[in-house]
Parts: sequence; C-alpha cells; structure tokens
Amino acid sequence: MGTIILGTGSWLPRRVMSNVELEEMVDTTDEWIRTRTGIENRRIAGAGEKTYQLAAKAARKALATAQLSAEEIELIVVGTISSHMLMPSCACYVQHEIGAVNAQAYDINAACSGFLYGIDIADHHIQARKEAKVLIIGAEAISSRLNWQDRNTCILFGDGAGAAVFGYSEDARRGVLGSSHGTDGSQWELLYMHTAPSTNADIEVAGNKGAFLVMEGKEIFKFAVKAMEEAVFRVLDDTGVSLADVSLLIPHQANMRILSKLLERLAVPREKVFLNVMNYGNTSAASIPIALDEANRAGRLKADDTILFCSVGGGLTWGATLIRW
Ligand code: UT7
Repeated sequence: MGTIILGTGSWLPRRVMSNVELEEMVDTTDEWIRTRTGIENRRIAGAGEKTYQLAAKAARKALATAQLSAEEIELIVVGTISSHMLMPSCACYVQHEIGAVNAQAYDINAACSGFLYGIDIADHHIQARKEAKVLIIGAEAISSRLNWQDRNTCILFGDGAGAAVFGYSEDARRGVLGSSHGTDGSQWELLYMHTAPSTNADIEVAGNKGAFLVMEGKEIFKFAVKAMEEAVFRVLDDTGVSLADVSLLIPHQANMRILSKLLERLAVPREKVFLNVMNYGNTSAASIPIALDEANRAGRLKADDTILFCSVGGGLTWGATLIRW
C-alpha cells in the first residue's frame, strides 16, 4: 500500500533577474556567479505574486494533473520561510485561494528541506487514512527576505512554488519507499533569519539584524555535502535499493558547487540528475517540487522508475526520500 503522487505543478514569477542585473546592485560579476554557483538567472516575485499566490497557482496545476478538485483535498501543508504574514499561515491563504473548503491547512518551517519533510507528513497521513488526498507545497518569495546589499547571499536565491498531490495505491511496490531525515539545531547560526523585533524586551534576541537571510557559506557547503550524502546512503540502506537502481536523482537545487561535489561523492552520472538551478537559483522549499514538476512534464518520470530526492537547509535540517513512480 503505497503513498503515491497523483499530480504535480509549479509556478514561477514572471520577472527574470540575470546575473548582469546583480552586477548593478552589489560588487559581483556574471562570471563569478556562473563559475562559483552555476546560476545564470533567478525569478523575482512582483505585484500579485506573494508566496501564497505562487503556491496557489502551483497547487491548481497539481490538482489539474491529478484530475482532482480542491474540495477533495483534506490536508494542505506548505513548506515556506517567506510567507508575507506570520499568521495566518501561507497554507491558510492557499486553502482559501483555491477553495479547498474541506481541508485543514498549516505551514512547516524546515527551510530548504520543507518539501521532503512535507512528503513524510503526507505519507503518515495517508497510511492512517487511505481515502485522504493531501496537497504538499513548497513556496517562497525569498526575495522579500534577502539582504540586497550582501553579495554572499543575494546572488544565490530566487522565488517560485511547486506542489504535489498525494493519494493511496493498493500497489505496494509504488509510492514512498522510505525516507531519512535529520535535524541539528546546534548549528542554527550557519543559516538563519530573525523575525521582527520582539515587543517583550526580556526575550529580545541579542543582535537582531532584521528579518533577512544570513549565511556562513563555506561552513554550510561542507555540512550540506556530507549531510545529503549520508541521508542518501541511509535511505538506500533502509529500503534495500542500490544507487545503480535509482532512475533519477532530484536534489535540492542549492547551487552547482554543492551539487557537483555531491554527485562526485555519490558517483552518480549527470544524466541521472535533474538540474534547473541555472534558471532559478536556490528557491529554498520550492526547489525540489519545481524540479519534480519539470521532470514530470518533460517525461523523465516513467512507471516503475525509482526517484531519489535529497535536501539540506536552515535549522539545520536535511533528508532524503525514495519514491517509486
Ligand atoms: O540551501 C543551502 C543554502 N546554502 C548554500 O547553497 C550555500 C553553500 N555555500 C556555497 O556553496 C559556497 O560557499 C558559495 C558558492 C556560496 C561561495 O563559494 P566560496 O568559494 O565558498 O566563496 P567564499 O565565500 O569563500 O568567497 C570567496 C571570495 C571572497 O573574497 P576573498 O575573501 O577571497 O577576497 C568573497 O568575499 O569570493 C568573494 N565573494 C564574491 N565575489 C564576487 C563572495 N560572494 C561574492 C560575489 N561576487 N557574489
């Protein structure tokens, strides 16, 4: 009895921001960005493209692919760190926007690992209630949470949303085969974002720099490669699947340097990896579901294919998930 993906969808903001545009904003060059990160363009949200609006558009496409109506969804989970409001959650806005009148909805904050953590929630929910249809979304307007004077971070990230609808299949060979997730809160200072200043002085966080992303790039790089590699081998071990049997790896699209190192360590050939980081940069929780949808629409996911996902993000959080299509 498998938890399967019934449909996928994604949505990107209209505005494309090139590396050349960034040259006007911070002390950087197109060449530095391309060679260090592989990123050429990213999308930046504009009017009418708040996080929930991107999420709702991706969700509608996923529902259409799954041939389901919004009323049939009973759970919506959005992985995001850049909703325009702290409360209500982004998921509540999505629930209203798409008319999912029978759904409960909430957000999870696992940064770039949000979508894979979301798959775990969908799997547990569906294994407990096999008639359930669950919508998992990763959505970010992370451009609203970047320090546009910090060349270490602003060149890396972009906006977008991806979604998948999950349901149940009697065919036990299909669906989520396993996952291996981890968290290490002691390493939070490598990648974080403050909230708005506290109105209770006693619990104000010392040195609150403002609600934008702060990163120790070099340290994250080392941690990310190791964490994803270990999670991949753990999920393969747990499920008894070999790396050679994996049809496609869809990693979190952090940047090409991290991904090249990871692929080298895993010894996975490029043709078995789905990459779109050059077009969108790092879209945090949205990166895996956007890539999943693009791979799906490009016909790269065939019945019986084994698809491997891996991620790492603020928290620190990480994980790997294995699905049979
Ligand atoms: O979801 C996970 C999110 N995190 C990540 O994906 C980031 C992980 N980190 C990395 O992948 C790498 O650390 C980067 C690609 C971000 C940076 O590569 P690096 O080789 O580690 O660069 P660096 O931070 O060591 O900086 C090298 C030099 C420095 O100059 P000096 O000190 O050698 O003079 C930086 O100031 O490059 C400079 N630099 C830049 N130069 C031009 C940093 N950012 C830029 C920039 N343009 N945008």
